[in-house]
Amino acid sequence: MKGSLHPKNNVTINPSGNESIRDVIERVSMSRRRFILTAASTSVLTVMGEVSIGGFLHSVEAAPIPPGPGFGGIGFKSVPPNLNNPATGLLEKDLVSVPEGYKVEVLVAWGDPIMPGAPNWRSDASQDAAAQEKQFGMHTDGMHYFPLKERSLFRRKQTSNRGLLCVNHEYTHEEILHPDGLTFIPATETAPQFGLPGSQVTIEKVRKSQAAHGVSVVEIFKTGNGWKVNRNSSYGRRITANTEMYISGPAAGDVLLKSKKFSLTPNGSIDTGTLNDGYTAYGTLNNCAHGYTPWGTYLTCEENWNGYFANPTEDVVSIPGVEKSDILTLQKRYGISKTGFGYRWHEVDPRFDASTNPLEPHLFGWVVEIDPYNPQSTPLKRTALGRFKHESAQVVVDDNNYVAFYMGDDERNEYIYKFVCARPLNPFNRAANSDMLDHGVLYVAKFKDDGTGEWLPLVYGQGGLTPENGFRSQAEVLVKTRQAADRVGATMMDRPEWVAVRPRIGGYQEIEVYCTLTNNNRRGATPASSNNPDGTTSAGSARPPVDAANPRPDNRYGHIIRWRENGRTVQATTFTWDLFVECGDKLASEPNLVGNINGDDFGAPDGLWFDDFGRLWIQTDQAGDGLGDWKNIGSNVMMCADPNTKQIRRFLTSPMNCEVTGVISTPDGKTMFVNIQHPGEDAVASNPTKFSNWPHSQGYGPSGRPRSSTIVITRKDGGIIGGL
Ligand code: FEO
Ligand code: CA
Ligand code: CA
Repeated sequence: MKGSLHPKNNVTINPSGNESIRDVIERVSMSRRRFILTAASTSVLTVMGEVSIGGFLHSVEAAPIPPGPGFGGIGFKSVPPNLNNPATGLLEKDLVSVPEGYKVEVLVAWGDPIMPGAPNWRSDASQDAAAQEKQFGMHTDGMHYFPLKERSLFRRKQTSNRGLLCVNHEYTHEEILHPDGLTFIPATETAPQFGLPGSQVTIEKVRKSQAAHGVSVVEIFKTGNGWKVNRNSSYGRRITANTEMYISGPAAGDVLLKSKKFSLTPNGSIDTGTLNDGYTAYGTLNNCAHGYTPWGTYLTCEENWNGYFANPTEDVVSIPGVEKSDILTLQKRYGISKTGFGYRWHEVDPRFDASTNPLEPHLFGWVVEIDPYNPQSTPLKRTALGRFKHESAQVVVDDNNYVAFYMGDDERNEYIYKFVCARPLNPFNRAANSDMLDHGVLYVAKFKDDGTGEWLPLVYGQGGLTPENGFRSQAEVLVKTRQAADRVGATMMDRPEWVAVRPRIGGYQEIEVYCTLTNNNRRGATPASSNNPDGTTSAGSARPPVDAANPRPDNRYGHIIRWRENGRTVQATTFTWDLFVECGDKLASEPNLVGNINGDDFGAPDGLWFDDFGRLWIQTDQAGDGLGDWKNIGSNVMMCADPNTKQIRRFLTSPMNCEVTGVISTPDGKTMFVNIQHPGEDAVASNPTKFSNWPHSQGYGPSGRPRSSTIVITRKDGGIIGGL
């Protein structure tokens, strides 16, 4: 189809021969250039190069669903759900399944070597922290593909055959990570729940667990025999819970960030008797979803970091210049508890004891920027984007080159935010953008019942963010982002997960942003309660009434909301919104779902991503066993939706007890990467494969224990994923 015009574009593109989108950009008008910059959702500037206009046309024209504006059509037949088999109590298939005509392969799994000197994975989990520090981490989540070959902003090509995959590792499963698991007594129990008898917490285990967290930078390349990992890549890198980072932005250097300084050794964290300078932190935690910047860096988002801390005394030591009650209120608002989530790090690593090192939690809950192209670079915690349980951070560049990042705080009754950079993008000088994430305004969303909304600025001195209300500076507004949002009256949402931005293609010009609201079992209960404006509410404890943006009580299946910025600019302070779809089981209890009238059912939407052709991909995170509420829906899935008609089809079903999260494609749209997280969840150390033996069950690696992995999906005919 080379030489054809894009059917929905009103600007003439006349590519000849093998002209690439890069070539097109070089010669079109400035307005057209802006259009393409904002359209390319895969990675904006960083991935342009090998997206052929011909391939793009092929997908759009051949789609069996008539394409509307900004939509390339869906060209596959739904796969059937992977249901629970009552005879075994397990799912029918311990496999990833994709539609007819598609192929799935495992690219890299937990423990695989990704950098020089890394050992091969051992299936008995006997490897130590030093090995794990050079191996692919556990429990893969958000990820992004960065093309290799060229380094300068406007000089990239051959971007779909070799690249760097930046992959988040959200958390670890100690029963799979260690041969004997880890004994833990949850706060509500009296007997140990996990681990082989006598299994205890040791610094060796904790260091391994910390090393399995964070981010992997993996060099991958395409061969005649599929995609491979370069196991000796000089780009190969592990960023862990102990990697040195810098803190930047308005909160950097603040007294609230000057926690105890420890010397981190394999044998323990040694108190140096001094304080951090407020500009330094160690490690990133619970890296859930992600983002990227138009200047070619990766953003990793810190979600449930609170669970690694524990405050056994429910009190804190005195800190000069900081009020004790202020710290304790912060710990409550962000969910730091007496026991933590059961990692038990605090018992052998005093850095994570929130009683004796009470400012350390303030070093987490940020968005972290990583330059994957420079393995020596130090990651930066960008405080201007706020401190909460960050799920993802998705960029929009508007027609005037202004840049915003849209973000959710994933906890029941938390908020949706956007950060608008102070100055426009410099598309000609990568270095000129290096402090874009330090200067700008953070806003929080108010969704009104009439379908309009407002972005409320979180700016010191405005909206009650004043000293008498506990905000003495912009630094304090940011460390206490949740409390600042409580104060200005933001709308409590049903657990905001990923955000996705619709590409501006095919004549579609709106800035339209989608967010998954995964569930909320604390809405609609009586008596109703809201997050207190004074910021004293315990995390997740409010019981708000239903509202138009969160219309269901006990919202167990979740929904997807979307909004359009007024005036098509990211600087808008008002927007309009509607519900894109309510999720649920039409067969069982909810025949009248908003949106998904005829499509396949799904629930608990989490991962969300638009491909460059305008297809919306939805990934789910529910129980994963196909039981109870999920009897008719089966395992977790990846769906594909038409944003115009809301037709939704099931593209991928997953193995037993896992979550599908993390998706990106190469710029040509012909290779898709997807993460399968925590297969076999709930298995115990005595029987790691009790629920799943994936990816071994799909032909990858030795048997022994299930492994979170990144898979590669391609089409047997070499076509574009999702298209015809
Ligand atoms: Fe880590 Fe909100 O999912
Ligand atoms: Ca998530
Ligand atoms: Ca999740």
